[in-house]
Amino acid sequence: MSDINYKTALVTGATSGIGMATAISLSEAGIKVIATGRRIEKLKALQSKISCEIIQLDIRDQDKIYSSLENLEIDILINNAGVGKGFSPIFKTEPEDINITTDTNVTSFLHVLRAVVPGMVNRKRGHIINLGSVAGLYPMASSVYGGSKGAVHLINQNLRLELSGTGVRATEICPGRVETEFFDVAFSDNPEKKKEMTSGFTLLKQEDIANAIMFAIQAPGRMNVSLIEITPTEQAPGGSKIEGIK
Ligand SMILES: NC(=O)c1ccc[n+]([C@@H]2O[C@H](COP(=O)([O-])OP(=O)(O)OC[C@H]3O[C@@H](n4cnc5c(N)ncnc54)[C@H](OP(=O)(O)O)[C@@H]3O)[C@@H](O)[C@H]2O)c1
Repeated sequence: MSDINYKTALVTGATSGIGMATAISLSEAGIKVIATGRRIEKLKALQSKISCEIIQLDIRDQDKIYSSLENLEIDILINNAGVGKGFSPIFKTEPEDINITTDTNVTSFLHVLRAVVPGMVNRKRGHIINLGSVAGLYPMASSVYGGSKGAVHLINQNLRLELSGTGVRATEICPGRVETEFFDVAFSDNPEKKKEMTSGFTLLKQEDIANAIMFAIQAPGRMNVSLIEITPTEQAPGGSKIEGIK
């Protein structure tokens, strides 16, 4: 258990998947949770399970990011909201998916940091958890989604330098495939591709990622967990499976 007595956490994308599982774990650890997302009925459902505050927020709405988050006193930021639109080669990507993915996963992601991190720096206390992906660390034939998560990787590395001396910690979590709504949203127009991406081996559960996040948060104050890469046992990133290698 950490010697830092964090009190409050903001979770973006708490309406499903990794964000929701992490909000539950944080609440179980006695941390006050502020849960955000676009789907108000899902936020209310979460509120009926755990004690939390909710803020309906589309993180592509830049003005609302600042008006709703800038003045909150946040110890832990779970910078999690993200989408996998454009999870295909650039020559097949819908132009609009480029905007949705880069707006959500990079531009809005940075504005959430800009709204929340100054308070942490002033208070000399805080922990930022940035949701990256193995797709941001290794090539997976996904220029748009992989590129957006590659940006998250360097954002986290630069944050570590920028925050040096402030007492604020930053951790990048890089999951492989996790069984969440991510693939329903990413492949809403291509059920075959969704099936291909989510079958053939056992995917991670959202709780697996929440547990890894809690490990980083509960580490002693002298310790910064900078990056956790976590994949299903049968997913090895970086190349194609060579049939008959066994
Ligand atoms: N699942 C995987 O295999 C996997 C692997 C590597 C990395 N990741 C990353 O993990 C993070 C969480 O994904 P997940 O797997 O938990 O997927 P998910 O179940 O689809 O959850 C995504 C969350 O992001 C929120 N979100 C998306 N666009 C938003 C917007 N414009 N404004 C506010 N909230 C928005 C969604 O809430 P609303 O729709 O209610 O707004 C939802 O709560 C993402 O950053 C994703 O890229 C996932």
